[in-house]
Amino acid sequence: MRVGVIGTGHVGLITCATLAKVGHHVTGSDTDEEKIALLQGGTPPFYEPGLSELVAEQLSSGRLAFTAEIAEAVTDAAMIFISVGTPPRASGEANLLAVEQSATEVARHAQGRCVVVEKSTVPTGTARRLRMAIQRTRPEDIKRFEVASNPEFLREGKAIDDAMEPERILVGADSEWAFQAMREVYDHWIRQGCRYIETDLATAELAKHASNGFLALKISYINALARLCERANADVTKVAEAMRSDSRIGEYFLDAGLGYGGSCFPKDLQAFSHLARQLGYDFSLLDEITKINNEAVEATLDKILDALWNLEDKRIALIGLSFKPETDDVRFAPALTIAKRLVEQGATVVGYDPQAGRTAKAELPEIEIAPNPYEAAEHAHCLVLCTEWEEFRNLDLKKLREIMEYPVVVDGRNAFDPDEMERLGFSIYPMGRPPRLASEEGRTPH
Ligand code: UDX
Repeated sequence: MRVGVIGTGHVGLITCATLAKVGHHVTGSDTDEEKIALLQGGTPPFYEPGLSELVAEQLSSGRLAFTAEIAEAVTDAAMIFISVGTPPRASGEANLLAVEQSATEVARHAQGRCVVVEKSTVPTGTARRLRMAIQRTRPEDIKRFEVASNPEFLREGKAIDDAMEPERILVGADSEWAFQAMREVYDHWIRQGCRYIETDLATAELAKHASNGFLALKISYINALARLCERANADVTKVAEAMRSDSRIGEYFLDAGLGYGGSCFPKDLQAFSHLARQLGYDFSLLDEITKINNEAVEATLDKILDALWNLEDKRIALIGLSFKPETDDVRFAPALTIAKRLVEQGATVVGYDPQAGRTAKAELPEIEIAPNPYEAAEHAHCLVLCTEWEEFRNLDLKKLREIMEYPVVVDGRNAFDPDEMERLGFSIYPMGRPPRLASEEGRTPH
């Protein structure tokens, strides 16, 4: 099938590459000409494991192309995915201007019968708006256009695996023609037995926010328990272990730590709460999830302050700057919120990240970026682990202990083994577990 994709961000670009991989002819378009030039040369504009290889492979197969001219992507397409950004407005509401503009452009340029698919996360009710935008542009031709909702559930860092082997594909539509076209585009996955769910438009739109809200709820629930464990001298990782073994609760998203960041959860929670209010329902639970998530950052800052007393003359190493491992995305990254607050309080902050050094520096020029974790830690009075990249599990801790000014580690993701850290002479402050203070450091005056 000929497919057009508008917007080549994390969702759009993965959609382009994976649909091309299964045999469709895909043209991705973006208004960012620099990004398109990079993509035409086979370079993705962001880091995602396996993506460079996949894009290069599909470009040379001839099934994938990129253009800065939206018309080129949509003219002959039988299906057009809209995967543009939906940034939050000050009120928390999603700003859907780019979605509306994309729909208008599709209506202007699409020549044949086509399905316009919402891939961006949008509030329920957007499909109706999409159809209105198309109708206003091409009133005489509205019968040629169908609208579908096909939310994307992929995770950054695992995006290709998630797209190639999804746990479900969700499609909302209101005509057999649209459902049939969607089944055709997803035929590869349907034949593999992937769970394929068809609903009406509003249901599909709502299900995406519902999923992200619930996942964020699990994270905030365990983080609230972490605050409780800190007060009760209990261990949240063991509490989580006990909870996980109950299949009704589930194994995942019970890691206490600095909380969630990224381009989805923070924004989607706000947008979902706003949408609920608009629909006349006070879904205050969603606001509580956000509040608890913010508290996780505050709790971490409290630990740093507790360990260091005054910050003005301190050098603090932050390792892991992206919002989660295996990405260079620093949008709503807790590490950067912490860095900002530390800088405001006069500390010198040196960061290291395997991939996100450049994006972090662009976002917060006040931080120094070190080329490796050891240079970040050298002469540091405290090291804060903000993102649990695999590489940090193999750090030479003895060396770290030697080069640091004070042997203080705040473990924002419970990635270090407290027993080992204690043995090596560190004072370690984990999340939701009792701190272990090196003998001298922990001595309480009588
Ligand atoms: C999320 C959803 O998982 C995905 O389905 C949706 O389409 C987009 O949003 P993503 O933001 O890429 O994906 O990352 P995810 O792996 O879900 O992690 C989100 C955040 O939660 C990260 O900051 C992560 O560090 C944090 N997290 C996750 C925790 O703090 N604890 C956990 O137990 C799990």
